[in-house]
Amino acid sequence: MTTACFEIIVQDEAQTRRFGQILGEIAEPGLIIGLVGDLGAGKTCFVKGLADGLGVDTEQCVASPTFALINEYEGRIVLFHVDLYRLGGIEDPDDVGFFDLMDANGVMAVEWADKLAESDFGDHLRINFDESDQTDRPDFRKISVKGVGTDSEKFCARLWKAAKLLEFK
Ligand SMILES: Nc1ncnc2c1ncn2[C@@H]1O[C@H](COP(=O)(O)OP(=O)(O)OP(=O)(O)O)[C@@H](O)[C@H]1O
Ligand SMILES: [Mg+2]
Repeated sequence: MTTACFEIIVQDEAQTRRFGQILGEIAEPGLIIGLVGDLGAGKTCFVKGLADGLGVDTEQCVASPTFALINEYEGRIVLFHVDLYRLGGIEDPDDVGFFDLMDANGVMAVEWADKLAESDFGDHLRINFDESDQTDRPDFRKISVKGVGTDSEKFCARLWKAAKLLEFK
């Protein structure tokens, strides 16, 4: 599989959320997003912005679904928010309907996507969150985006344009 990539630097939580919102505004049904990054890297923060961009009612709280494993939110497109952190305790992700959700024509955002093989996600967008190693800039994050598969590569290029046209360079 070929990949298309870009990176942005966000300076604070608001910018991470804004990036998620931009993505949510242009997302299409069936989009799968694998989120990779350490504890506190900003994955859930990004998903909150994604929910904003998908028009999810802000009364519906988007918390990290570590205890629910999968949360579902009604929006312009339904959002499935999945957290694979606890997958170690689950024999097979299929037992919780994980793979069925990929065909459910929603937007699926999966925290700790690296708990599964990249190939398990098929055509998807993969977003890495790297925390700053500069002590004077603890809120900086490097967000790296790549499309895995032809549809996601195209989406990645559109996302880059949308993000660049706005505040990110
Ligand atoms: N640039 C930034 N983007 C996102 N969050 C930031 C940023 N700078 C600081 N933060 C802080 O880092 C934390 C990110 O938390 P968040 O729940 O989004 O992480 P997470 O990657 O989902 O972690 P977990 O793996 O535990 O679910 C929050 O406390 C937030 O205030
Ligand atoms: Mg989280």
